[in-house]
Amino acid sequence: MERKVNLHLDVRVACGTAGECDMTGMVGLPSLLLHSNGDSMSALSMQINGRAAQVHTEPSALLVEILRGPLAVTGTHIGCDTGQCGACTVLLDGQAVKSCNVLAVQARGKSITTVEGLASPGQTHPLQQAFMDCHGLQCGFCTPGMLMTAACLLSKNPQPSEAQIADALEGNLCRCTGYVNIVAAVKQASVAMAGGQK
Ligand code: FES
Ligand code: FES
Repeated sequence: MERKVNLHLDVRVACGTAGECDMTGMVGLPSLLLHSNGDSMSALSMQINGRAAQVHTEPSALLVEILRGPLAVTGTHIGCDTGQCGACTVLLDGQAVKSCNVLAVQARGKSITTVEGLASPGQTHPLQQAFMDCHGLQCGFCTPGMLMTAACLLSKNPQPSEAQIADALEGNLCRCTGYVNIVAAVKQASVAMAGGQK
């Protein structure tokens, strides 16, 4: 089902350039000020990957829609739009959420971390490294959501068992890699992070 969101992309870039994404999270996001002349628009301020962002959007807009639309944080994928695949998972105040299940207005004043913000600029997060080392991805479509769910897990449980990892990733679907390597990757990252990597 195609959703139409009335977002007007008159974007003023306060710093940097409009963000692109990749798994290394090396590209930063500029502060954005978006304008609209729609009467029903809501003004939202939030933090995206540590930077302030302000958006005017319809009350019905989904968080994933403003991320991938006006905020140009396209590492967050849409696999189903029905809350089943987990490809759209981001951290909302540190909690993994499926951003196709969250209204943008629910993120007002909150801190959102997407895959672009997982690692420090120019660095690779241990989870990203482990997914590469353990062949935890093939096409990579599910990977941003897998990484963010795993990051949430490790923030709460730094040394999870394989069963706990599989349980945490239950809501994230992968159509091509298989889950054994993904679980192994999260396990490797937990060991690396326990050794001091961040
Ligand atoms: S796109 Fe959100 S769960 Fe599939
Ligand atoms: S790596 Fe292709 S869907 Fe998971």
